Amino acid sequence: MNKKNQEILIQVKNLTKKFGNFYAVKGVNLEIQRGEIVGFLGPNGAGKTTTMKMMAHLLKPNEGEVLIRANGDLQKLSNRNKDFLLDNIGFLIEIPAFYGKVTPKVILKYFAKLKGYPRKKLNERIDTVLKMIGMLEWKDKKIGTFSKGMKQKIGIVSAIVHDPDIIVLDEPQTGLDPAARKEVRDFIMNLKKIGKTVFLSSHLLYEISEVADRIAIIHHGKIIAFDTLDNLEGKAMKSVIHFELLNSIESSIEEFIKQLKTIIVPLTGIAEEESWITYDDDSKVFQVFFNGNPKNQTEILRTLLNNGYEILEYSVPKAGLLENLFIELTRTNELGGVSK
Ligand SMILES: Nc1ncnc2c1ncn2[C@@H]1O[C@H](COP(=O)(O)OP(=O)(O)O)[C@@H](O)[C@H]1O
Ligand SMILES: [Mg+2]
Repeated sequence: MNKKNQEILIQVKNLTKKFGNFYAVKGVNLEIQRGEIVGFLGPNGAGKTTTMKMMAHLLKPNEGEVLIRANGDLQKLSNRNKDFLLDNIGFLIEIPAFYGKVTPKVILKYFAKLKGYPRKKLNERIDTVLKMIGMLEWKDKKIGTFSKGMKQKIGIVSAIVHDPDIIVLDEPQTGLDPAARKEVRDFIMNLKKIGKTVFLSSHLLYEISEVADRIAIIHHGKIIAFDTLDNLEGKAMKSVIHFELLNSIESSIEEFIKQLKTIIVPLTGIAEEESWITYDDDSKVFQVFFNGNPKNQTEILRTLLNNGYEILEYSVPKAGLLENLFIELTRTNELGGVSK
């Protein structure tokens, strides 16, 4: 994104939420610029919904603040100004359970009125959003007869029926089949095309990486990465070697890995405190984290052979480099930053 055109619409500063003594969200900083799609990625229980609820003023933070742009300024969200500040945002946080006897038209009318959408344009607007998700012909059908995916799509458009500039969607694809997930992806890309700003959470890397300009990764309530997809992919160029040995392991596996590390780690191109070798007992596969450089890769193989390790299989799976990064980031975070 061009720096000049950057305009922060939502800024989250040091946002923290405790439930009892447990930090569900801890010191989260985020900023969302006009026109971008920011993906909020993290495993279940990471703190995504809690963060979004604080952004929607549904939960009160223990610390920190949410700033939202209005009248040219970033203004702190509070009890006093929440209606005014949140008017321009469409939230879908947890898919609402609709009463089965109502129709999409009735639901969408309700949400649009609630947000003060002009009555005159209401019917036209309802048709527009139903068309966006390919459900116009269902406008007057009872929701009770809808599939889960259809209900979810109605939930998604109920968040945007008042035509907000910013849209916050919490796991809109969760529980949907692949075809419906793709429809939601296309819908989100379309929102960007018409100039909307989107903040979207998921625990599915693929759903985020396909649409987001920038990705914030949250784990145990903390942001562990926040960058453009390109930069994250750059970091993800760090890669993992998989190999299997013919040799039987005489010592304990911990001892064995320790020995391996002394000869391999200096060749990984990665600082000792950040490098790791793991062993999967089920598949008998060793994994070595390295810088992704083919030179280092061949050097590691050569050194293993020179040291009498007999290699049965040796590979560097290229698929899912980002997946590797995601796993790596959540794994090192698990161990307090350094793995031994
Ligand atoms: N009302 C609550 N009371 C106690 N713990 C909660 C509450 N809401 C969420 N949590 C806990 O906070 C953590 C983060 O939850 P959540 O924000 O829902 O994660 P995510 O949306 O990323 O799956 C989880 O460990 C969850 O169990
Ligand atoms: Mg959630």
